[in-house]
Amino acid sequence: MAKYASTWISPHKSKRLLLLLFVFSIFVIAILFLWSSLNYCYYRRHAGIASAMADRAVIPTSYSSFDKNRLGFMRSKFVLLVSHELSLSGGPLLLMELAFLLRNVGTEVAWMTYQKPAEDSEAIYSLEHKILDRGVQVLPSSGQDAVNTVLKSDMIILNTAVTGKWLEAVLKEHITEVLPKILWWIHEMRGHYFKLDYVKHLPYVAGAMIDSHSTAEYWKNRTSERLGIAMPSTYVVHLGNSKELMEVAEDAVARRVLREHIRESLGVHNEDLLFAIINSVSRGKGQDLFLQSFYESLKLVHIKKLQVPAMHAVIVGSDMSGHTKLEMELRTFAVKQGIKDRVHFVNKTLTVAPFLAAIDVLVQNSQARGECFGRITIEAMAFQLPVLGTSAGGTTEIVINGSTGLLHPTGKEGIPILAQNMVKLATQVETRLTMGKKGFPRVMERFMEHHMAERIASVLEEVLHKSNPRSS
Ligand SMILES: *[C@@H]1O[C@H](CO)[C@@H](O)[C@H](O)[C@H]1NC(C)=O
Ligand SMILES: *[C@@H]1O[C@H](CO)[C@@H](O)[C@H](O)[C@H]1NC(C)=O
Ligand SMILES: *[C@@H]1O[C@H](CO)[C@@H](O)[C@H](O)[C@H]1NC(C)=O
Repeated sequence: MAKYASTWISPHKSKRLLLLLFVFSIFVIAILFLWSSLNYCYYRRHAGIASAMADRAVIPTSYSSFDKNRLGFMRSKFVLLVSHELSLSGGPLLLMELAFLLRNVGTEVAWMTYQKPAEDSEAIYSLEHKILDRGVQVLPSSGQDAVNTVLKSDMIILNTAVTGKWLEAVLKEHITEVLPKILWWIHEMRGHYFKLDYVKHLPYVAGAMIDSHSTAEYWKNRTSERLGIAMPSTYVVHLGNSKELMEVAEDAVARRVLREHIRESLGVHNEDLLFAIINSVSRGKGQDLFLQSFYESLKLVHIKKLQVPAMHAVIVGSDMSGHTKLEMELRTFAVKQGIKDRVHFVNKTLTVAPFLAAIDVLVQNSQARGECFGRITIEAMAFQLPVLGTSAGGTTEIVINGSTGLLHPTGKEGIPILAQNMVKLATQVETRLTMGKKGFPRVMERFMEHHMAERIASVLEEVLHKSNPRSS
C-alpha cells in the first residue's frame, strides 16, 4: 500500500492523476449509457433516474473509430427515427447514438417521440435540445405533418416493440405504403411484448434488427407459435463497447487506482477475491441464486480445507427503496448464514467501471431466457475479467465456455455448478487470470462500437436497397 501511495505523490505522476480524473469524468457519462442499456431487456428503467441525470449528462459522441465512408450511401437520405420515449435509458440512447452517427455522414435525420408525458418535462425538453444541437430535427409524432414527414422519408427506424402502436395510431390508411420503408430495432425479450397490438405489422416491414441471435431466435419462435405471424428479414446486431470505457479498461494505472479506491470503500484487502454481480437487483438477474452459490462455494472451501484468499460477494445494483422484498431476502440470507462480512451491497449506480476495475470475477446470473445481450459482460471482458455466466441468451454468444469464462445452467440446478466454478477460479489462479486475458482480444475483435456501426451500416444498406430499389 505504502508503495503506491508514494508513487502517487511524485510530481511526474500527478499529471497522470489529472488525466485520470478527466478520463474518469468522461466515462461516468459513458457508463450512464452503458448501465441503462444493460438493464433494458428485462424492464424499462425507472424514468426518475434517467430524468434526474438528463440535465447533467452529455450525450456521448459515439462510433468514434468507425470509417464514415462506409455510410456514404446514406449522405443524401432522409431518415426518421421513432422512439417510444425520450430518456437516457437503453433503448432511446442507442437510437440517439444512431441519429448522431447518421448526422455525421450528412444524413438528414428527424426524431419523433411517441409517448410523451402529458405535462412538460424539463428532462425531455433538455434532451430534445441536445438532439437539436446535433442537427437532428425534433418533430411531433402525430398529426398531418407527421404523416407527411413519414411519407417523404427514405427510411423509418422504429425503436423497440412497443413503438408498434404508433403505426396505427398515426399512419392509419397510409400504413401499407409505409411498411416497406421500416427497419424495426427490437431490444425486448419478455413475454408481454409478444402482443398483436404491438407487432402485428412486423411481418411486412423491411427488416428487424435484434441484439443477439438467441433473442432473434426467440422472437421467431414466439411470433410464429403464439401469434401466428412471421418475422421479416432479421439482422442480429451485437452491441459494442464505447471508446470511453476502453480508455479506462486499457489504462493500467487508472484500473489500479480505481481498484484501490473501491476496495477501500468496501473494506476488503487487495489480495481478497471479489466475485461481483452488476445488475439491478431483481429475480430475473438472479442475485438470490448467486448468493446461494456463493454460500455453497464457501462451504466447499471449508469442507475441502482449500487454501484460497478470502472470498467476497459484491452485489452492485441494490435499491432498498424499490423491490424491497428481494432486497430484504438477500440481506437476511447473508445474516442467517453468517456470511454478512463477506457480502457487500452497493447501491444502483451508473458508474460501473470502478467496480469492474476492483473485482476479480464477474458473475452474469440472468435467469430464464437470460440476457437479450448483456452489455456488462463485454465490459467486464474489456477489463480482463473472467465471466461466470448462465448458459442462456446473449451470454452464450459472448462467453466461450472454458476459455473466457465458465457457463452454468439457469435455475436452482445452476447453484452447485456456479459454486464449483467459483471455487475453481479461487483455487486455480492461473486459469482465472488466463480466462480474463482471453476475454480482452475477443472483445477487441467482435464487441467494439465500430463493429456495431459496421454491422448497422450493412443493415441500412440492405434495407434501403429493398425499400427503394430505384435509389441504388
Ligand atoms: C425455437 O424453436 C426451436 C424448435 O422448436 C427450438 O429448437 C429452439 O430451441 C427454440 N429457440 C428458442 C430461443 O426458444
Ligand atoms: C443507498 O440507498 C439507500 C436508499 O435506497 C440510502 O439510504 C443509502 O444511504 C444509500 N447508500 C449509499 C452509500 O449511498
Ligand atoms: C462448460 O464447460 C465445462 C467444462 O469446462 C463443462 O463441464 C460444461 O458442461 C460446459 N457447459 C456448457 C453449458 O457448455
